Amino acid sequence: MKADNFYGRERESYAEPYKIKMVEAIELKSREYREKAVTEAGLNVFNLKAEDVYIDLLTDSGTGAMSNRQWSALLLGDESYAGAKSFFKIRDAIRDIFGYNYLVLAHQGRAAENILMGTLVKPGQRVLNNMHFDTTEGHVRMRDASPLNLIRAEGLNTSLEAPFKGDMDLEKLEAELKKGAKDGSVPFVMMTVTCNSNGGQPVSMANIRAASEITHSFGLPFFFDAARFAENCWFIKQREEGYTDKSVKEIAREMFSYGDGATMSAKKDAIINIGGFVAVRDDENLYNLCSQRQIQYEGFKTYGGLAGRDMEAMAAGLYEGLDEDYLEDRIGQVRYLGDRLKALGVPLQVPFGGHGVFIDAKKCLPHIEQRFFPAQALTVELYKEGGVRGVELGTCSFGHTDPVTGEEYFPELELMRLAIPRRVYTDRHMDMVAAAMGRIMDRKEKIRGLRLVYAPVIMRHFTARFEWI
Ligand code: F0G
Repeated sequence: MKADNFYGRERESYAEPYKIKMVEAIELKSREYREKAVTEAGLNVFNLKAEDVYIDLLTDSGTGAMSNRQWSALLLGDESYAGAKSFFKIRDAIRDIFGYNYLVLAHQGRAAENILMGTLVKPGQRVLNNMHFDTTEGHVRMRDASPLNLIRAEGLNTSLEAPFKGDMDLEKLEAELKKGAKDGSVPFVMMTVTCNSNGGQPVSMANIRAASEITHSFGLPFFFDAARFAENCWFIKQREEGYTDKSVKEIAREMFSYGDGATMSAKKDAIINIGGFVAVRDDENLYNLCSQRQIQYEGFKTYGGLAGRDMEAMAAGLYEGLDEDYLEDRIGQVRYLGDRLKALGVPLQVPFGGHGVFIDAKKCLPHIEQRFFPAQALTVELYKEGGVRGVELGTCSFGHTDPVTGEEYFPELELMRLAIPRRVYTDRHMDMVAAAMGRIMDRKEKIRGLRLVYAPVIMRHFTARFEWI
Protein backbone atom coordinates (compact mmCIF):
# COMPACT_ATOMS: atom_id res chain seq x y z
CA MET A 1 0.00 0.00 0.00
CA LYS A 2 1.39 3.39 -0.95
CA ALA A 3 0.12 4.99 2.24
CA ASP A 4 2.67 7.81 2.06
CA ASN A 5 1.23 9.02 -1.19
CA PHE A 6 -2.52 9.51 -1.07
CA TYR A 7 -2.85 12.14 -3.77
CA GLY A 8 0.15 12.14 -6.13
CA ARG A 9 2.08 15.37 -6.76
CA GLU A 10 1.80 18.50 -4.63
CA ARG A 11 -0.74 20.91 -6.10
CA GLU A 12 1.75 23.80 -6.09
CA SER A 13 4.09 21.95 -8.46
CA TYR A 14 1.95 22.24 -11.56
CA ALA A 15 -0.81 24.35 -13.10
CA GLU A 16 -4.19 23.59 -14.64
CA PRO A 17 -3.83 21.50 -17.85
CA TYR A 18 -6.10 23.90 -19.77
CA LYS A 19 -6.57 27.57 -20.56
CA ILE A 20 -9.83 29.50 -20.35
CA LYS A 21 -11.67 30.65 -23.48
CA MET A 22 -14.97 31.85 -22.08
CA VAL A 23 -15.84 33.45 -18.76
CA GLU A 24 -19.05 33.91 -16.81
CA ALA A 25 -19.34 36.82 -14.36
CA ILE A 26 -20.07 36.13 -10.68
CA GLU A 27 -20.80 38.66 -7.98
CA LEU A 28 -20.45 38.77 -4.21
CA LYS A 29 -23.63 40.41 -2.91
CA SER A 30 -23.53 42.39 0.36
CA ARG A 31 -23.79 40.57 3.69
CA GLU A 32 -27.11 42.29 4.39
CA TYR A 33 -28.46 41.06 1.04
CA ARG A 34 -27.24 37.53 1.68
CA GLU A 35 -28.83 37.38 5.13
CA LYS A 36 -32.16 38.44 3.70
CA ALA A 37 -31.88 36.04 0.76
CA VAL A 38 -31.14 32.99 2.90
CA THR A 39 -33.87 33.86 5.39
CA GLU A 40 -36.38 34.13 2.55
CA ALA A 41 -35.04 30.77 1.32
CA GLY A 42 -36.26 29.14 4.54
CA LEU A 43 -32.63 28.71 5.66
CA ASN A 44 -32.19 26.11 2.92
CA VAL A 45 -29.57 26.98 0.30
CA PHE A 46 -31.39 24.87 -2.33
CA ASN A 47 -33.98 27.66 -2.37
CA LEU A 48 -31.46 30.43 -3.17
CA LYS A 49 -31.23 32.02 -6.59
CA ALA A 50 -27.93 30.95 -8.18
CA GLU A 51 -27.16 34.57 -9.05
CA ASP A 52 -27.12 35.35 -5.32
CA VAL A 53 -24.30 32.83 -4.81
CA TYR A 54 -20.68 33.92 -5.22
CA ILE A 55 -18.90 30.53 -5.24
CA ASP A 56 -21.26 27.63 -5.79
CA LEU A 57 -20.06 24.39 -4.22
CA LEU A 58 -23.57 22.96 -3.84
CA THR A 59 -22.69 20.14 -6.19
CA ASP A 60 -20.25 18.85 -8.78
CA SER A 61 -23.21 17.41 -10.68
CA GLY A 62 -23.95 18.90 -14.09
CA THR A 63 -21.98 22.00 -13.12
CA GLY A 64 -18.69 21.23 -14.87
CA ALA A 65 -17.23 23.27 -17.72
CA MET A 66 -17.37 21.45 -21.04
CA SER A 67 -14.27 21.54 -23.22
CA ASN A 68 -13.99 23.02 -26.72
CA ARG A 69 -14.07 19.41 -27.98
CA GLN A 70 -17.36 18.76 -26.20
CA TRP A 71 -18.90 22.00 -27.43
CA SER A 72 -17.90 21.21 -31.00
CA ALA A 73 -19.30 17.66 -30.59
CA LEU A 74 -22.72 19.20 -29.89
CA LEU A 75 -23.02 20.13 -33.56
CA LEU A 76 -22.61 16.49 -34.55
CA GLY A 77 -25.75 15.55 -32.57
CA ASP A 78 -28.09 13.39 -34.61
CA GLU A 79 -31.58 14.34 -33.44
CA SER A 80 -33.37 11.44 -35.14
CA TYR A 81 -36.05 9.88 -32.95
CA ALA A 82 -34.97 6.32 -33.76
CA GLY A 83 -31.55 4.96 -34.66
CA ALA A 84 -29.59 8.19 -34.14
CA LYS A 85 -25.91 8.02 -35.04
CA SER A 86 -25.08 9.70 -31.71
CA PHE A 87 -26.61 6.76 -29.82
CA PHE A 88 -24.22 4.30 -31.41
CA LYS A 89 -21.31 6.58 -30.58
CA ILE A 90 -22.17 6.66 -26.87
CA ARG A 91 -23.02 2.94 -26.82
CA ASP A 92 -19.61 2.14 -28.30
CA ALA A 93 -17.86 4.41 -25.79
CA ILE A 94 -19.57 2.54 -22.94
CA ARG A 95 -18.68 -0.83 -24.44
CA ASP A 96 -15.09 0.36 -24.70
CA ILE A 97 -14.75 1.85 -21.19
CA PHE A 98 -17.12 -0.33 -19.14
CA GLY A 99 -17.18 -3.50 -21.22
CA TYR A 100 -20.99 -3.54 -20.88
CA ASN A 101 -22.95 -4.50 -23.98
CA TYR A 102 -26.35 -2.96 -23.39
CA LEU A 103 -27.03 0.71 -22.84
CA VAL A 104 -30.26 2.16 -21.43
CA LEU A 105 -29.97 5.94 -21.56
CA ALA A 106 -31.83 8.17 -19.11
CA HIS A 107 -31.98 11.89 -18.48
CA GLN A 108 -29.88 11.64 -15.29
CA GLY A 109 -28.68 9.27 -12.58
CA ARG A 110 -31.88 9.06 -10.56
CA ALA A 111 -33.85 8.24 -13.71
CA ALA A 112 -31.45 5.35 -14.27
CA GLU A 113 -32.05 4.33 -10.64
CA ASN A 114 -35.77 4.49 -11.26
CA ILE A 115 -35.38 2.12 -14.19
CA LEU A 116 -33.11 -0.39 -12.41
CA MET A 117 -34.85 -0.31 -9.02
CA GLY A 118 -38.29 -0.29 -10.62
CA THR A 119 -37.30 -3.44 -12.47
CA LEU A 120 -35.61 -5.34 -9.64
CA VAL A 121 -36.70 -4.08 -6.21
CA LYS A 122 -39.85 -5.45 -4.55
CA PRO A 123 -41.59 -4.28 -1.36
CA GLY A 124 -40.01 -5.60 1.83
CA GLN A 125 -36.63 -6.31 0.22
CA ARG A 126 -33.27 -5.03 1.44
CA VAL A 127 -30.87 -3.39 -0.99
CA LEU A 128 -27.20 -3.61 0.02
CA ASN A 129 -24.75 -0.85 -0.83
CA ASN A 130 -21.48 0.37 0.66
CA MET A 131 -23.41 3.59 1.17
CA HIS A 132 -26.47 4.76 -0.71
CA PHE A 133 -26.59 8.28 -2.01
CA ASP A 134 -29.76 10.25 -1.23
CA THR A 135 -31.60 9.62 -4.49
CA THR A 136 -30.54 5.96 -4.53
CA GLU A 137 -31.84 5.57 -1.01
CA GLY A 138 -35.02 7.43 -1.98
CA HIS A 139 -35.66 5.04 -4.87
CA VAL A 140 -35.29 2.03 -2.57
CA ARG A 141 -37.64 3.53 0.04
CA MET A 142 -40.17 4.52 -2.63
CA ARG A 143 -40.58 0.80 -3.32
CA ASP A 144 -41.19 0.08 0.37
CA ALA A 145 -37.82 -1.64 0.53
CA SER A 146 -34.94 -0.89 2.94
CA PRO A 147 -31.58 0.56 1.95
CA LEU A 148 -28.73 -0.95 4.01
CA ASN A 149 -25.33 0.71 4.21
CA LEU A 150 -22.51 -1.79 4.70
CA ILE A 151 -19.56 0.58 4.77
CA ARG A 152 -16.67 -0.48 7.03
CA ALA A 153 -16.55 1.33 10.36
CA GLU A 154 -13.37 3.22 9.41
CA GLY A 155 -15.31 4.99 6.65
CA LEU A 156 -17.38 6.71 9.33
CA ASN A 157 -14.44 7.84 11.45
CA THR A 158 -13.68 11.21 9.89
CA SER A 159 -10.30 11.75 11.54
CA LEU A 160 -8.80 8.39 10.57
CA GLU A 161 -6.36 8.54 7.63
CA ALA A 162 -6.89 5.40 5.54
CA PRO A 163 -6.61 4.94 1.79
CA PHE A 164 -9.95 3.29 0.97
CA LYS A 165 -12.63 4.52 3.31
CA GLY A 166 -15.35 3.65 0.78
CA ASP A 167 -14.73 -0.10 1.23
CA MET A 168 -17.64 -2.38 2.08
CA ASP A 169 -17.60 -4.51 5.22
CA LEU A 170 -17.33 -7.97 3.66
CA GLU A 171 -18.37 -9.85 6.79
CA LYS A 172 -21.53 -7.80 7.05
CA LEU A 173 -22.15 -8.36 3.35
CA GLU A 174 -21.88 -12.10 3.74
CA ALA A 175 -24.14 -12.12 6.80
CA GLU A 176 -26.82 -10.07 5.00
CA LEU A 177 -26.64 -12.29 1.94
CA LYS A 178 -27.00 -15.41 4.09
CA LYS A 179 -30.19 -13.95 5.58
CA GLY A 180 -31.34 -12.99 2.08
CA ALA A 181 -30.60 -16.44 0.67
CA LYS A 182 -33.20 -17.89 3.04
CA ASP A 183 -36.04 -15.51 2.25
CA GLY A 184 -35.11 -14.03 -1.14
CA SER A 185 -35.08 -10.58 0.37
CA VAL A 186 -31.98 -9.19 -1.37
CA PRO A 187 -32.44 -8.32 -5.07
CA PHE A 188 -28.81 -7.22 -5.72
CA VAL A 189 -25.72 -5.59 -4.23
CA MET A 190 -24.47 -2.20 -5.32
CA MET A 191 -21.09 -0.53 -4.91
CA THR A 192 -20.95 3.27 -5.05
CA VAL A 193 -17.64 4.49 -6.51
CA THR A 194 -16.46 6.84 -5.16
CA CYS A 195 -18.63 6.73 -2.06
CA ASN A 196 -20.25 10.15 -2.10
CA SER A 197 -22.11 10.00 1.21
CA ASN A 198 -19.01 9.60 3.38
CA GLY A 199 -16.85 12.12 1.58
CA GLY A 200 -16.14 10.95 -1.96
CA GLN A 201 -14.05 8.15 -0.50
CA PRO A 202 -12.66 5.53 -2.88
CA VAL A 203 -13.25 1.78 -2.87
CA SER A 204 -10.23 -0.45 -3.45
CA MET A 205 -10.05 -2.93 -6.29
CA ALA A 206 -9.44 -5.71 -3.74
CA ASN A 207 -12.69 -4.84 -1.95
CA ILE A 208 -14.65 -4.61 -5.21
CA ARG A 209 -13.31 -7.97 -6.37
CA ALA A 210 -14.12 -9.66 -3.06
CA ALA A 211 -17.59 -8.10 -2.73
CA SER A 212 -18.40 -9.17 -6.27
CA GLU A 213 -17.23 -12.75 -5.62
CA ILE A 214 -19.30 -13.01 -2.44
CA THR A 215 -22.39 -11.58 -4.16
CA HIS A 216 -22.04 -13.91 -7.12
CA SER A 217 -21.57 -16.91 -4.84
CA PHE A 218 -25.15 -16.25 -3.68
CA GLY A 219 -26.32 -16.10 -7.29
CA LEU A 220 -27.11 -12.39 -7.13
CA PRO A 221 -26.07 -9.57 -9.47
CA PHE A 222 -23.48 -6.96 -8.50
CA PHE A 223 -23.92 -3.41 -9.80
CA PHE A 224 -21.97 -0.19 -9.62
CA ASP A 225 -23.24 3.28 -8.91
CA ALA A 226 -20.61 4.67 -11.25
CA ALA A 227 -21.20 8.44 -10.94
CA ARG A 228 -17.55 9.08 -10.04
CA PHE A 229 -15.89 5.93 -11.37
CA ALA A 230 -12.94 7.73 -12.99
CA GLU A 231 -12.03 9.48 -9.74
CA ASN A 232 -12.24 6.12 -7.96
CA CYS A 233 -9.91 4.54 -10.52
CA TRP A 234 -7.47 7.42 -10.20
CA PHE A 235 -7.30 6.80 -6.44
CA ILE A 236 -6.69 3.08 -7.06
CA LYS A 237 -3.78 4.06 -9.29
CA GLN A 238 -2.37 6.34 -6.57
CA ARG A 239 -3.00 4.14 -3.55
CA GLU A 240 -3.32 0.45 -4.37
CA GLU A 241 -0.40 -1.93 -4.85
CA GLY A 242 -0.08 -3.17 -8.41
CA TYR A 243 -1.90 -0.36 -10.22
CA THR A 244 0.72 2.40 -10.44
CA ASP A 245 1.70 1.52 -13.99
CA LYS A 246 -1.79 0.84 -15.30
CA SER A 247 -3.77 3.56 -17.06
CA VAL A 248 -6.94 4.82 -15.39
CA LYS A 249 -8.87 3.41 -18.35
CA GLU A 250 -7.34 -0.05 -17.85
CA ILE A 251 -8.19 0.15 -14.16
CA ALA A 252 -11.78 1.08 -15.04
CA ARG A 253 -12.06 -1.91 -17.39
CA GLU A 254 -10.86 -4.24 -14.65
CA MET A 255 -13.15 -2.66 -12.05
CA PHE A 256 -16.26 -2.97 -14.22
CA SER A 257 -15.32 -6.55 -15.15
CA TYR A 258 -16.40 -7.53 -11.61
CA GLY A 259 -19.92 -6.17 -12.11
CA ASP A 260 -23.04 -7.16 -14.02
CA GLY A 261 -23.96 -3.60 -14.81
CA ALA A 262 -24.07 -0.04 -13.54
CA THR A 263 -26.17 3.02 -13.13
CA MET A 264 -24.40 6.28 -13.81
CA SER A 265 -25.17 9.93 -13.38
CA ALA A 266 -23.09 11.19 -16.30
CA LYS A 267 -23.32 14.70 -14.81
CA LYS A 268 -20.24 13.93 -12.75
CA ASP A 269 -17.34 12.06 -14.34
CA ALA A 270 -18.59 12.44 -17.91
CA ILE A 271 -18.46 16.24 -17.38
CA ILE A 272 -21.79 17.04 -19.00
CA ASN A 273 -24.72 19.13 -17.82
CA ILE A 274 -27.36 16.41 -18.10
CA GLY A 275 -27.46 12.67 -18.78
CA GLY A 276 -27.30 9.23 -17.22
CA PHE A 277 -27.74 5.56 -17.99
CA VAL A 278 -28.09 1.97 -16.92
CA ALA A 279 -25.50 -0.27 -18.54
CA VAL A 280 -25.95 -4.06 -18.51
CA ARG A 281 -23.10 -6.45 -19.27
CA ASP A 282 -24.84 -9.31 -21.04
CA ASP A 283 -28.19 -10.10 -19.39
CA GLU A 284 -30.51 -9.59 -22.32
CA ASN A 285 -33.60 -10.24 -20.25
CA LEU A 286 -32.67 -7.55 -17.71
CA TYR A 287 -31.87 -5.18 -20.57
CA ASN A 288 -35.27 -5.78 -22.14
CA LEU A 289 -37.07 -5.14 -18.86
CA CYS A 290 -35.08 -1.95 -18.25
CA SER A 291 -35.67 -0.81 -21.79
CA GLN A 292 -39.45 -1.17 -21.40
CA ARG A 293 -39.34 1.16 -18.42
CA GLN A 294 -37.03 3.50 -20.27
CA ILE A 295 -39.47 3.81 -23.15
CA GLN A 296 -42.30 4.49 -20.70
CA TYR A 297 -40.50 7.08 -18.56
CA GLU A 298 -37.56 8.46 -20.54
CA GLY A 299 -37.93 7.99 -24.27
CA PHE A 300 -37.11 5.62 -27.09
CA LYS A 301 -34.12 3.30 -26.79
CA THR A 302 -31.80 5.41 -28.91
CA TYR A 303 -32.21 8.65 -26.99
CA GLY A 304 -33.69 7.91 -23.53
CA GLY A 305 -34.53 11.47 -22.45
CA LEU A 306 -31.50 13.05 -24.08
CA ALA A 307 -30.93 15.15 -27.18
CA GLY A 308 -28.54 13.76 -29.78
CA ARG A 309 -26.15 16.57 -28.87
CA ASP A 310 -26.16 15.45 -25.21
CA MET A 311 -25.08 11.96 -26.29
CA GLU A 312 -22.22 13.43 -28.33
CA ALA A 313 -21.02 15.56 -25.42
CA MET A 314 -21.31 12.55 -23.11
CA ALA A 315 -19.21 10.32 -25.39
CA ALA A 316 -16.48 12.96 -25.58
CA GLY A 317 -16.74 13.72 -21.84
CA LEU A 318 -16.42 10.08 -20.77
CA TYR A 319 -12.96 9.99 -22.36
CA GLU A 320 -11.97 13.41 -21.02
CA GLY A 321 -12.97 12.26 -17.55
CA LEU A 322 -10.36 9.50 -17.79
CA ASP A 323 -7.55 11.85 -18.82
CA GLU A 324 -4.91 11.58 -16.13
CA ASP A 325 -3.66 15.18 -16.32
CA TYR A 326 -7.26 16.28 -15.86
CA LEU A 327 -7.80 13.90 -12.92
CA GLU A 328 -4.59 14.96 -11.19
CA ASP A 329 -5.61 18.59 -11.51
CA ARG A 330 -9.17 18.00 -10.38
CA ILE A 331 -8.35 15.93 -7.34
CA GLY A 332 -5.36 18.20 -6.69
CA GLN A 333 -7.74 21.13 -6.39
CA VAL A 334 -9.86 19.28 -3.84
CA ARG A 335 -6.68 18.64 -1.88
CA TYR A 336 -5.67 22.30 -2.23
CA LEU A 337 -8.88 23.41 -0.53
CA GLY A 338 -8.69 20.59 2.02
CA ASP A 339 -5.14 21.50 3.02
CA ARG A 340 -6.14 25.13 3.58
CA LEU A 341 -9.13 24.23 5.71
CA LYS A 342 -7.12 21.72 7.72
CA ALA A 343 -4.51 24.40 8.45
CA LEU A 344 -7.32 26.52 9.90
CA GLY A 345 -8.28 23.70 12.26
CA VAL A 346 -11.53 22.83 10.45
CA PRO A 347 -12.49 19.21 11.30
CA LEU A 348 -12.71 17.31 8.01
CA GLN A 349 -13.21 13.84 6.60
CA VAL A 350 -9.63 12.73 5.82
CA PRO A 351 -8.11 11.87 3.47
CA PHE A 352 -10.01 14.38 1.32
CA GLY A 353 -12.30 12.83 -1.27
CA GLY A 354 -12.38 12.97 -5.03
CA HIS A 355 -15.03 15.59 -5.63
CA GLY A 356 -15.05 17.78 -2.56
CA VAL A 357 -14.10 18.51 0.99
CA PHE A 358 -16.47 17.33 3.71
CA ILE A 359 -16.58 19.19 7.02
CA ASP A 360 -17.51 17.21 10.14
CA ALA A 361 -20.23 19.40 11.65
CA LYS A 362 -20.56 17.31 14.82
CA LYS A 363 -16.94 18.10 15.63
CA CYS A 364 -17.08 21.66 14.33
CA LEU A 365 -20.25 22.64 16.22
CA PRO A 366 -20.29 20.23 19.20
CA HIS A 367 -22.62 22.55 21.12
CA ILE A 368 -25.48 21.91 18.64
CA GLU A 369 -27.33 18.62 19.21
CA GLN A 370 -27.76 16.54 16.07
CA ARG A 371 -31.55 16.97 16.16
CA PHE A 372 -30.95 20.69 15.60
CA PHE A 373 -29.18 20.14 12.26
CA PRO A 374 -25.60 21.33 12.90
CA ALA A 375 -24.46 20.70 9.28
CA GLN A 376 -27.41 22.65 7.94
CA ALA A 377 -26.66 25.52 10.33
CA LEU A 378 -23.04 25.57 9.15
CA THR A 379 -24.17 25.61 5.52
CA VAL A 380 -26.38 28.64 6.16
CA GLU A 381 -23.56 30.41 8.03
CA LEU A 382 -21.05 29.81 5.24
CA TYR A 383 -23.39 31.38 2.73
CA LYS A 384 -23.94 34.37 5.01
CA GLU A 385 -20.21 34.69 5.67
CA GLY A 386 -18.78 34.37 2.17
CA GLY A 387 -21.56 33.92 -0.37
CA VAL A 388 -20.32 30.30 -0.64
CA ARG A 389 -22.97 27.62 -1.14
CA GLY A 390 -22.15 24.17 0.23
CA VAL A 391 -24.63 21.41 0.98
CA GLU A 392 -25.77 19.52 4.05
CA LEU A 393 -25.21 15.75 4.06
CA GLY A 394 -26.42 14.97 7.55
CA THR A 395 -29.62 14.76 9.53
CA CYS A 396 -31.73 16.61 6.98
CA SER A 397 -30.51 14.57 3.98
CA PHE A 398 -30.20 11.16 5.59
CA GLY A 399 -32.23 11.30 8.79
CA HIS A 400 -35.83 10.22 8.70
CA THR A 401 -38.87 9.52 10.81
CA ASP A 402 -39.82 5.85 11.00
CA PRO A 403 -43.26 5.60 9.33
CA VAL A 404 -44.38 2.88 11.80
CA THR A 405 -42.87 3.86 15.17
CA GLY A 406 -42.56 7.61 14.55
CA GLU A 407 -39.04 7.37 15.93
CA GLU A 408 -36.39 9.77 14.60
CA TYR A 409 -33.37 8.16 12.92
CA PHE A 410 -30.06 10.08 12.95
CA PRO A 411 -27.26 9.27 10.49
CA GLU A 412 -23.79 8.58 11.88
CA LEU A 413 -22.18 11.27 9.75
CA GLU A 414 -23.17 14.91 10.00
CA LEU A 415 -21.31 16.60 7.16
CA MET A 416 -21.26 19.81 5.20
CA ARG A 417 -19.93 19.13 1.72
CA LEU A 418 -18.05 21.62 -0.41
CA ALA A 419 -18.30 19.92 -3.82
CA ILE A 420 -16.03 21.38 -6.47
CA PRO A 421 -17.40 21.63 -10.02
CA ARG A 422 -15.00 20.32 -12.67
CA ARG A 423 -12.79 22.90 -14.45
CA VAL A 424 -14.93 25.81 -13.20
CA TYR A 425 -13.18 27.61 -10.33
CA THR A 426 -9.54 28.53 -9.79
CA ASP A 427 -7.45 28.06 -6.67
CA ARG A 428 -8.06 31.75 -5.90
CA HIS A 429 -11.72 30.91 -5.47
CA MET A 430 -10.70 28.11 -3.12
CA ASP A 431 -8.70 30.68 -1.11
CA MET A 432 -11.88 32.75 -0.72
CA VAL A 433 -13.79 29.70 0.49
CA ALA A 434 -11.10 28.88 3.04
CA ALA A 435 -11.00 32.49 4.25
CA ALA A 436 -14.77 32.49 4.84
CA MET A 437 -14.55 29.20 6.76
CA GLY A 438 -11.69 30.65 8.79
CA ARG A 439 -13.88 33.58 9.88
CA ILE A 440 -16.62 31.13 10.87
CA MET A 441 -14.15 29.14 12.98
CA ASP A 442 -13.47 32.33 14.97
CA ARG A 443 -17.14 32.72 15.93
CA LYS A 444 -18.49 29.17 15.72
CA GLU A 445 -19.54 28.92 19.39
CA LYS A 446 -22.20 31.53 18.68
CA ILE A 447 -23.86 29.59 15.86
CA ARG A 448 -27.33 28.32 16.78
CA GLY A 449 -29.13 25.18 15.67
CA LEU A 450 -32.18 24.91 13.43
CA ARG A 451 -35.67 23.50 13.67
CA LEU A 452 -37.65 22.11 10.71
CA VAL A 453 -40.78 24.02 9.81
CA TYR A 454 -41.58 22.06 6.64
CA ALA A 455 -40.34 18.72 5.29
CA PRO A 456 -41.66 16.14 2.83
CA VAL A 457 -41.38 12.44 3.75
CA ILE A 458 -38.71 11.37 1.22
CA MET A 459 -35.62 13.35 0.12
CA ARG A 460 -36.55 16.13 2.47
CA HIS A 461 -33.37 18.20 2.14
CA PHE A 462 -34.28 19.51 -1.29
CA THR A 463 -37.40 21.35 -0.15
CA ALA A 464 -37.20 21.53 3.67
CA ARG A 465 -37.60 24.90 5.42
CA PHE A 466 -36.11 25.84 8.79
CA GLU A 467 -36.12 28.44 11.54
CA TRP A 468 -33.36 29.27 14.06
CA ILE A 469 -33.86 27.90 17.56
N1 F0G B 1 -25.43 8.36 -7.34
C1 F0G B 1 -24.54 9.16 -6.75
C2 F0G B 1 -23.35 8.56 -6.06
C3 F0G B 1 -24.72 10.54 -6.77
O1 F0G B 1 -23.82 11.32 -6.18
C4 F0G B 1 -25.85 11.07 -7.44
C5 F0G B 1 -26.08 12.50 -7.49
C6 F0G B 1 -26.75 10.21 -8.04
C7 F0G B 1 -26.51 8.85 -7.98
C8 F0G B 1 -27.98 10.72 -8.76
O2 F0G B 1 -27.64 11.31 -9.97
O3 F0G B 1 -28.25 13.72 -9.74
O4 F0G B 1 -27.88 12.68 -11.97
O5 F0G B 1 -29.89 12.13 -10.68
N2 F0G B 1 -25.45 13.32 -6.81
C9 F0G B 1 -25.53 14.75 -6.89
C10 F0G B 1 -24.69 15.33 -5.79
C11 F0G B 1 -26.88 15.33 -6.96
O6 F0G B 1 -24.79 16.55 -5.57
O7 F0G B 1 -23.90 14.61 -5.20
P1 F0G B 1 -28.47 12.53 -10.61
